[in-house]
Amino acid sequence: MSEQALQARPVTIADARRYARDRLHGLLGPDKLADVQLLTSELVTNAVRHAGLNEEDAVNLEIYVGTDTVHVAVVDGGAGFDFSKILDEPRDARGGWGLVLVGKVSDRWGIDASPPHTVWFEIDR
Ligand SMILES: Nc1ncnc2c1ncn2[C@@H]1O[C@H](COP(=O)(O)OP(=O)(O)OP(=O)(O)O)[C@@H](O)[C@H]1O
Ligand SMILES: [Mg+2]
Repeated sequence: MSEQALQARPVTIADARRYARDRLHGLLGPDKLADVQLLTSELVTNAVRHAGLNEEDAVNLEIYVGTDTVHVAVVDGGAGFDFSKILDEPRDARGGWGLVLVGKVSDRWGIDASPPHTVWFEIDR
């Protein structure tokens, strides 16, 4: 297990990608490593944009490397998901595609809506 506390400002998105790369270098092939970095940046971007955090609030990025799978969790202490909004909001060229991408590229993903809110995904090794 490996954990990194990031701050809720946009600079952390590049930090998160770099952290995932450093943590998983040599443990995943280059294509899967790129997938993990992409999805990590979607989830950290969401936490920064949508969780209603202040700049000094932390977003936690946790990476667990198992024998068969890599599990990534992004934890924010924010207000949580408004599921009705997610279901009703139309997806268009402006956005709403981040979680669709997470669903397509990962092997499994989910939202743990109990506080502190966690969005996680797994990519099999
Ligand atoms: N960490 C979070 N806390 C609260 N709400 C969230 C969080 N992450 C996502 N959401 C909600 O889920 C919605 C869908 O997220 P998604 O990443 O699919 O789209 P988006 O961020 O709106 O657009 P895009 O990712 O395409 O730029 C968001 O608009 C937001 O309402
Ligand atoms: Mg998004």
